[in-house]
Amino acid sequence: MIQSIQRANSLSGTVALPGDKSISHRYAMLAAIAEGASELRHFARSRDCHSTLGCLRSLGVDVRTNGEDVFINGRGLHGLQKPQETLDAGNSGTTIRLLSGILAGCNFESAIAGDESLCGRPMKRIMQPLQLMGAQIEARNGNFPPLHIRGGNLKAVRYSLPVASAQVKSCVLLAGLYGEDTSAVRELAPTRDHTEIALCHFGASLRKNEGWIEIDPEPHLQSQRLNIPGDLSGAAFFLVAAAMVPGSDLVLPAVGLNGRRRKLLDYLTSSGANLVVENECENAGEVRGDLRTSFSAALMNSHLLPIRGEWVAALIDEIPVLAILGSQVDGGLEVSDAGELRVKESDRIAAIALNLRAMGAEVEEKADGFVIPGRQKLRGADIFAAGDHRIAMAFAIAGLVADGETRIHEAECADVSFPGFWETLAGTMGTGKIQEGPE
Ligand code: S3P
Repeated sequence: MIQSIQRANSLSGTVALPGDKSISHRYAMLAAIAEGASELRHFARSRDCHSTLGCLRSLGVDVRTNGEDVFINGRGLHGLQKPQETLDAGNSGTTIRLLSGILAGCNFESAIAGDESLCGRPMKRIMQPLQLMGAQIEARNGNFPPLHIRGGNLKAVRYSLPVASAQVKSCVLLAGLYGEDTSAVRELAPTRDHTEIALCHFGASLRKNEGWIEIDPEPHLQSQRLNIPGDLSGAAFFLVAAAMVPGSDLVLPAVGLNGRRRKLLDYLTSSGANLVVENECENAGEVRGDLRTSFSAALMNSHLLPIRGEWVAALIDEIPVLAILGSQVDGGLEVSDAGELRVKESDRIAAIALNLRAMGAEVEEKADGFVIPGRQKLRGADIFAAGDHRIAMAFAIAGLVADGETRIHEAECADVSFPGFWETLAGTMGTGKIQEGPE
């Protein structure tokens, strides 16, 4: 499907976000190995989270859905069943990496794979700690899916992460539930901590100790009734769009504002964005609040802070849309230390450079980032997102400030994290246009 986008005059209204993708994955997996019936309200509609639900069903878990509500009958820590076929994680790195931690603890053989993009993404980063724990794991060329896992009888591990990754940290913590003693993991840089928060809430015993996150084995995880906040990474597209399009004013209700994720808000406000958080409250350890945002001339006249070091992990999923913002603000944007972007759903550094250049912008591509000069005039172009949802949506936002028509190819990939994105964006537009175009 091609989506065609024209320059927008203003964006206004209320943006309904899907449930947070990262939290939805974790709640579903923990509900599956908990005891009793869990209810997960406002579960992410995203294709990725439904890949997780599909895998859980293949492991014998009773999963029912009703719109955005998901009901899971937990089978207990040791109750998952050997799957008949290779588990299909689709496009989802979170599914394969987190679920592998659980599969490593299960006393059966399983295989897990996904689509072409996922099968090109590195898995050695989870294989190494799981192998140290005693799991047998094989991968194509020692690094890529499909993974063949023979689990059970795990030893405890004390593991310093060589990469700043919430997925790898979470994999080790989940495997730690099955260890023979307390396991511990130490981060290279702070990453999202939804797994730690959710584990505590489901009844695991987890603590921080001198920079280590320790987890005790064999807890009785208890089923939960939980409500999932809106996805801040999905909100990011609208926050950037409103900041760039004069006259815009948007409200985004009940957005997840976890301390490790909301660095995006600090980042934008420190450069002058108009962002107000209202009705902040906490639910199961996860903060949420309503966001109100509007056009900001101050932001457009600003220098964005360079994104490097610990900021990379804090903004990892938002960098594609921040690159678009960088091309429009006065001082441009410089990103470094971000080689991880090359092993996401696509090589995001290459995809950002390719598509911004197609729109007439100048980009200096580096091995671990890019430099984008500011105040560049964008012109509409054909955008090839390489099947990557965040690239497709970031360039839709670029289309709102470009001259002429921007055509996003394979636009349906937005469903990976944000089903309904195109309709939601169209719903906020004044006289601008967005429509499905001919192939
Ligand atoms: C995620 C962690 C991040 C992020 C991904 C979701 C998670 O990946 O990019 O979209 O839910 O744990 P890495 O852990 O590979 O950085």
